Amino acid sequence: MIWRRSSLYQGITYKSIVGEVTSVIHHMVYNNNIVFISIGGRKDMKRHEALYPLSHHHHHALVTAVELKKAGTEKTEKSLQEYRRSVIDFWNQDGRGHFRDEEEVLLPLYAQYGNVDQEPIRKMLIQHAQIRGMVEQIREQPRLTAEQFRELGELLDDHVRLEERTIFPMIEEAVPKKLLYQANGRFHRDSVSGR
Ligand SMILES: [Fe+2]
Ligand SMILES: [Fe+2]
Repeated sequence: MIWRRSSLYQGITYKSIVGEVTSVIHHMVYNNNIVFISIGGRKDMKRHEALYPLSHHHHHALVTAVELKKAGTEKTEKSLQEYRRSVIDFWNQDGRGHFRDEEEVLLPLYAQYGNVDQEPIRKMLIQHAQIRGMVEQIREQPRLTAEQFRELGELLDDHVRLEERTIFPMIEEAVPKKLLYQANGRFHRDSVSGR
């Protein structure tokens, strides 16, 4: 088995991900799938392959979060209208489907083998509502501020960390592998990587 470091996304090199998101995420790829994921310099965590599609979505979300956190700063030339467009596209193409994957497939599966009535799961679902609310505001409000986009970027970033560091490991431990594979077939495919 040969490990290599590489990018998952067309047009985004590994270097650019590492360069911009060093403190956020590193991954190792084998046969074009994420097999290890490390966020914020923590020890690499093995991701069960049945959850690869969700980790692919998370990479896309983190790249989006990095971009959003630059809104209104000298690090970007994008206008607020361009930011609005990119948030709507991100949500329509992947965000909405990803939240459904987690709420309609993953958590109900976990509820059969683990305890969903616990703080990390509550926090995850509250963040889903907050992110949906922010996206809705960005879509509907005629006047927007750069701060709104930066806040969404921060929240997306926190949310992916919570799931990758805490929630996915809990689920991988509790749910029988065979059922994780069955869930895999129900996840939507990422618009960027196709996985
Ligand atoms: Fe989520
Ligand atoms: Fe997620």
